[in-house]
Amino acid sequence: MTRTVYVNGDYVPEAEAKVSVFDRGFLFADGVYEVTSVLDGKLIDFEGHAKRLERSLAELGMTAPVTTEELLEIHRELMRQNDLHEGMIYLQITRGADADRDFVFPDPDVVPSTLVLFTQAKAIADNPVARKGIRVISIDDIRWGRRDIKTVQLLYPSMGKMMAKAAGKDDAWLTEDGFVTEGTSNNAYIVKDGRIITRHLGNEILHGITRRAVLQFAREAQMQVEERAFTLEEAKDADEAFITSASTFVMPVVEIDDAAVGEGAPGPVATRLRDIYLSESRKSAI
Ligand code: PDD
Repeated sequence: MTRTVYVNGDYVPEAEAKVSVFDRGFLFADGVYEVTSVLDGKLIDFEGHAKRLERSLAELGMTAPVTTEELLEIHRELMRQNDLHEGMIYLQITRGADADRDFVFPDPDVVPSTLVLFTQAKAIADNPVARKGIRVISIDDIRWGRRDIKTVQLLYPSMGKMMAKAAGKDDAWLTEDGFVTEGTSNNAYIVKDGRIITRHLGNEILHGITRRAVLQFAREAQMQVEERAFTLEEAKDADEAFITSASTFVMPVVEIDDAAVGEGAPGPVATRLRDIYLSESRKSAI
């Protein structure tokens, strides 16, 4: 089955989808995105992703080409047309294609933004990696200062994943002034003496939609949560570590820079949170 993608109002076979070479997403990484997971043919936390998208657009002075209701309908139509039961939907909005390459933003009334969505089928709930956990390296966080905006400037996160791969590991945690900010494409957590510790919200990290839900479920389950910066040293000395994102849910981290975290195997807190997250988000999926 050939994949159908959405481009600016049309559902087209992927080989026929076209975006201008002058698109500012292509020339300047002038765009934002969202990744929403799909389980049982339903969207996980669509509302959270739609709200964050609105915020990313507002922070960059960009306008949404469609309403949230229309976006929901496009997600659903893409799931239908591609028979998607499990995986992700990727959405990108750029500041559109001006007549030329110009650093100055075009007038949004003249140049409409570009909207692209596509599906990615993948088994994400029953993921064998979650049973053994992932191994991470630490690298300097040299990204720009507005990591709270979900822009498509993902070169450094890609380089981070390549550095991890070259070291024979799975991913990288980013550090700034000795503190862990987040993972290349996920939020980072440690567990010490039963307390779940994750960096507080600010411009230094993306405000993860999975993070928000996981922290809420943890508090509802009477687990102790501390939202504060933690050092790499604390992380290496933690009982457990894990990451969260729309594509990994809750994923145990069993090694940091060659040092085993805790027992070097997925711990009880991460395992329990993954179970709770999967069952609760399935219940509220739309
Ligand atoms: N990444 N931090 C960063 C830097 C991210 O890129 C992501 C998401 C997250 C987790 O956010 P959420 O829980 O809303 O997925 C944190 C997506 C999945 C990606 O780029 O593929």
